[in-house]
Amino acid sequence: MRIGVFTSGGDAPGMNACIRAVVRSALAAGHEVVGIRRGYRGLLEEDFHRDEDGDIRMKLRSVSDITRLGGTILHTSRSSDFRTEEGLKKAAEILRKYAIDALIPIGGDGTFHGAVALSRYWKGQIVGCPGTIDNDLLGTDFTIGFATAVQTAVDAVDKLRDTADAHERMFLIEVMGRHCGSIALYCAIASGAEIAAIPETPTRIDEIVRRLHAFTQRKKTSVMMIVAEGDEQGGALELQRQLQERSCPYEMRVLALGHLQRGGSPVFADRILAARLGDFAVQSISAGKTGVMAGDIGGRLALTPFGETYATHRQVAPEDLHLLEIMAT
Ligand code: F6P
Repeated sequence: MRIGVFTSGGDAPGMNACIRAVVRSALAAGHEVVGIRRGYRGLLEEDFHRDEDGDIRMKLRSVSDITRLGGTILHTSRSSDFRTEEGLKKAAEILRKYAIDALIPIGGDGTFHGAVALSRYWKGQIVGCPGTIDNDLLGTDFTIGFATAVQTAVDAVDKLRDTADAHERMFLIEVMGRHCGSIALYCAIASGAEIAAIPETPTRIDEIVRRLHAFTQRKKTSVMMIVAEGDEQGGALELQRQLQERSCPYEMRVLALGHLQRGGSPVFADRILAARLGDFAVQSISAGKTGVMAGDIGGRLALTPFGETYATHRQVAPEDLHLLEIMAT
């Protein structure tokens, strides 16, 4: 079989490790692999990864020493042209022209929406791998890139704690996660932050102000508040404004970590997850599966139909919310 692999949507640390796993597992199983550059946009432009000899078939050495690299050697994009009927038909024609039998897209919900749309016009197999820092997909406990993004955020909060303590200030640190508070919650627990504002639970300003006053009574010298960018109150700057209005007892500073969280060498957990899921996606294609995402649920590899992976927003575990509350008091 000829398998096409590509990365799409926001890049995530570990995407390269996943590309490598797909290439090496596929070659070991006797398949051919072609790398499509720049996601769905690259597919429409017939933009394939080529080795020095110009061949589009990836070799073992095409993916040498990329496990430790952040970003994606295949590059990525968000393409709106692709989703038009014309774009989907064109993509299907190109896949037939290059005799591609199956696709392994590595990405998040937008990528899988694209895969479902494409399958209306193309009858090849599609098995996806979850590559997004947000950890917002159902069908896997963790997405590739999430652990590294959390580690990056934790490293930043650790540093900010030093300066916050020195000046007896409060920091509002905004982390990524469009609709999902996973990064914020894990970062808050791991860094010992006092407060997390996430879209899954109501952020009550009066309640936060009450807690801040209690902190001053206890002579707490610094406060770290982790804010998910998707929080319903509107992010860290807006929360600072609202807290200011209600006479926040701490002097505040705001920092949005932004795309910093998407870069860097993947931590071991993301590399292992990427290797396992990349290999599982290839095995699943060999077994005739299609329209599904490879995931890891409770330590077991599992396939979930694309539609179910993004049907609802992932909920945070109530135990984790409780843990944060206990740790912060
Ligand atoms: O989906 C991953 C993500 O990093 C989100 O956390 C964030 O909201 C978004 O992508 C940013 O997208 P862009 O790369 O288009 O700025």
